[in-house]
Amino acid sequence: MGSVIPLKKEIDNSYIELKNLVENKIDRVNELIKYKLSSEINLIHKMTNYHLKSGGKRIRPLLTLGSAKLCGYEDGNRDINLAACVELIHNATLLHDDVIDNSSFRRGIKTSNAIWGNQSSILVGDYLFSRCFEMMVEDGSQEILKLLSSTSSKIAQGEVLQLEYKGEIDILEEIYFNIINSKTAALFAAATKIGACITSKSKKEKDALESYGKNIGLAFQIADDALDYYSTKTIFGKEIGKDFYEGKVTLPIIFLYQKANQEEKVFLGKIFKKKNRSKSEFIDTQSLIKKYNSIDACFERAEYFVNISYNALNIFKPSQEKTILQNLTSFSLERSF
Ligand code: IPE
Ligand code: IPE
Ligand code: MG
Ligand code: MG
Repeated sequence: MGSVIPLKKEIDNSYIELKNLVENKIDRVNELIKYKLSSEINLIHKMTNYHLKSGGKRIRPLLTLGSAKLCGYEDGNRDINLAACVELIHNATLLHDDVIDNSSFRRGIKTSNAIWGNQSSILVGDYLFSRCFEMMVEDGSQEILKLLSSTSSKIAQGEVLQLEYKGEIDILEEIYFNIINSKTAALFAAATKIGACITSKSKKEKDALESYGKNIGLAFQIADDALDYYSTKTIFGKEIGKDFYEGKVTLPIIFLYQKANQEEKVFLGKIFKKKNRSKSEFIDTQSLIKKYNSIDACFERAEYFVNISYNALNIFKPSQEKTILQNLTSFSLERSF
């Protein structure tokens, strides 16, 4: 698989390095989001303020800013405006996703749905989407409008497809990849492709950045699905075992089911079919995951996408931003949060 995975030290630093590289711009993205979300409706004001304070890694807008820099974008604010759009889409989907997944903890604090209920969360999620679309129209590019609107519909389709396969222990690996490609990788791909679009680069650079983002996104979601089985609430900022309790069959379970013996297969099939799963069933499942090294298998698979992502940037001439973006591919995997 080649030896493109850089040293551990570089991996840990790449996220901080990207933040430092675009420090002024990411601050302006955050200010712009705050400004765009202001509303005279008291509940919207309270909820958006709460949600924005919770922060998050801002990995997608950082990728937009980094990709724009890689493509030599200098004059203007389009990178900032569009990075804000990308983060707004992400946050809108999170508000909706937490309702669908019944989640009560995110970014180390209670979710909006846990505080204000499902109805308000769905409506405020819609508000975020609408603000984002206003900003996209202001940007004026048909190409970007097409890219981000098709990305939004892809995310929605991914979430619905996931719902359709809830409890299906023998889900095909291919379906799982369709799901994560739509619900997660598509937005990463759009976030990075924007850099080439706003600098009017040729198809080659657009394809390269799209591939970079898509594959980093796939690795990122595989890591998220693995962390759901072995991280801790304090580090992850989210409750552990959520996918299990919701009956989502993710890659650690797919790999486990492939290796399990007949008795274990029956056990897994039965518990995933049930309406609810218990804590002791979660612990038993974690033991099976350990027994068959499913987490390692997930990371091995994710590494494959990390390498594709890394190599996609080979066409760009050497630069500081290229090095940071390439090293960031491993952060998507090595991260603990
Ligand atoms: C969470 O995304 C949803 C996934 C695609 C796994 P992030 O992990 O980027 O969430 P925040 O914005 O940093 O909280
Ligand atoms: C990612 O899936 C959600 C979206 C892309 C909308 P998850 O359901 O795994 O994300 P978390 O774990 O809740 O952050
Ligand atoms: Mg979720
Ligand atoms: Mg998750």
